[in-house]
Amino acid sequence: MKTFLITGATSGIGEACARQCLAQGDQVVALCRNLEKAQSKFGPEIAAGTFVPLQYDLGHNADLFAFCLEHLKPYTIERCIHCAGFTVVQKLTSTNYDTLQKMFETHVFSLAEMVRALLRLRKVDHELSIVAVSSVASHALSMSTGAYCMAKASMDYYVRFVNKLINSGKQKRLPPPAHLLAQAEAIADPVERERAIFMAQAQSGLMLRINAYNPIETAIFDYDFAKDQGIMLPLIPMEVVVEGIFDLLENQYISGQSIVVNNDAAY
Ligand SMILES: NC(=O)c1ccc[n+]([C@@H]2O[C@H](COP(=O)([O-])OP(=O)(O)OC[C@H]3O[C@@H](n4cnc5c(N)ncnc54)[C@H](OP(=O)(O)O)[C@@H]3O)[C@@H](O)[C@H]2O)c1
Repeated sequence: MKTFLITGATSGIGEACARQCLAQGDQVVALCRNLEKAQSKFGPEIAAGTFVPLQYDLGHNADLFAFCLEHLKPYTIERCIHCAGFTVVQKLTSTNYDTLQKMFETHVFSLAEMVRALLRLRKVDHELSIVAVSSVASHALSMSTGAYCMAKASMDYYVRFVNKLINSGKQKRLPPPAHLLAQAEAIADPVERERAIFMAQAQSGLMLRINAYNPIETAIFDYDFAKDQGIMLPLIPMEVVVEGIFDLLENQYISGQSIVVNNDAAY
């Protein structure tokens, strides 16, 4: 059983990820702004202790680092999915300080404070994999959602930056793949055996990983809005997005990347 830290777990992609964790027997610690909503969605799991809601509004993160140090201490967080977010459709001339501040607080500053706390709380041999749900908007600048695009691009950059810090130099790695090591150790010739063990050890994965996952619209997109506007957006099924996030979390060889999942060649 692993313990996941998830933001945005009470709706959309974050909720689907939380349900996937629970289905596979993992525990979810969720930073939620609305505990009543968490109770209404995950009542039985809260009672069972498999879903632990911690109340925090990620629109204001001045205290988030200290909050995480205090409230996450009892848990060994091995996986983190940052899904909390929102978008605003606005003209450039209306995109003011307040919009930008809330946008960056919710998407970027929250991520930075959580990552700092997770790295501080982490024990030496403890594997940690983080996925920040970004958006294709970080690559395709959309005129009407400029603040959102900027925040998502910052998340992608932050992921590259953190990866560079945590994975430059001689970082401790995961144990080498067990089957390769066993094959190598079974080789009779000592020179060949030493070579094969060296090769197996070189294939050890990264103990600390952080990536961004950038989906295009999922099928939870508002149908009435799309119909009203006469737009046909490309959609990715929610299960594909969730599967992609979990595959990325578990891939021991990917860190510092921004993975785009897109079925629209125009982007
Ligand atoms: N859906 C898509 O097609 C799509 C495409 C690309 C990227 N994304 C990104 O994926 C992430 C999840 O999107 P979604 O579609 O699942 O959105 P969603 O259904 O609207 O869910 C957003 C979640 O974020 C939480 N949240 C928002 N502001 C918060 C705050 N200040 N403090 C704490 N929690 C807050 C919400 O909490 P409440 O439950 O309390 O409202 C909700 O649980 C977002 O970052 C979004 O930008 C989504």
